[in-house]
Amino acid sequence: MNNIVAPSILSCDFTNIAAELEPLKNSKDTWIHLDIMDGHFVPNLTFGIPIIKQISQVCNLPLDAHLMVSNPEFHIEEMKDFGLANITFHFEATSDPLQLISQAKENYKSVGISIKPKTSVSSLSPEVLREIDLILVMSVEPGFGGQSFIEESYSKIKELDTIRKSMGLNFQIQVDGGVSNKNAKTLRETGADNLVAGSYIFKADKDQYAQLIESLR
Ligand code: DX5
Ligand code: ZN
Repeated sequence: MNNIVAPSILSCDFTNIAAELEPLKNSKDTWIHLDIMDGHFVPNLTFGIPIIKQISQVCNLPLDAHLMVSNPEFHIEEMKDFGLANITFHFEATSDPLQLISQAKENYKSVGISIKPKTSVSSLSPEVLREIDLILVMSVEPGFGGQSFIEESYSKIKELDTIRKSMGLNFQIQVDGGVSNKNAKTLRETGADNLVAGSYIFKADKDQYAQLIESLR
């Protein structure tokens, strides 16, 4: 089982991203989570291709792109040379997830699919479950950092963990939204092996970042 923490830079100081990432550079099993929002799939708008390219040039940690966009195939194609460790698109943003997975697998070593809080685990077909490397359970409505964790997420994680075991699969279960030291232990015990956290880490002082990351393991 993985024990990854993925700090989301959504809550960091965007005028100084390189300095925000500096305290994280020696953290093991740490991915940098990039929340890409288009103002259409979600109401909020963040950053896109040029900024991700620049981050990929200064960041030595694995980069994890979370596409909250309406046309994920475009972004998957445009970011294929950035050396991303994982790219995740939303189930709700495509009519053909299997096709998108196969397109993404041509250029990415890990491909994820995300489900919003109201999307059930059973929406994901056995074929998708067999092909996917990571399933992202949104534990808040996507769009903004700093929201409260939705408790119903636990049962979805448990369900995915049970399916994973019964089908003999090894996709990662990632959880995103409202993650902190209050729920991290229970999330791990429920089956999550990759925890995204934004405000819990980046709203603290810089000298706390590394320690806060470790507190989630
Ligand atoms: C929300 C984003 C999250 C967000 C998490 O749409 O996908 O990654 O940054 O922020 P916190 O940890 O503050 O809930
Ligand atoms: Zn995210």
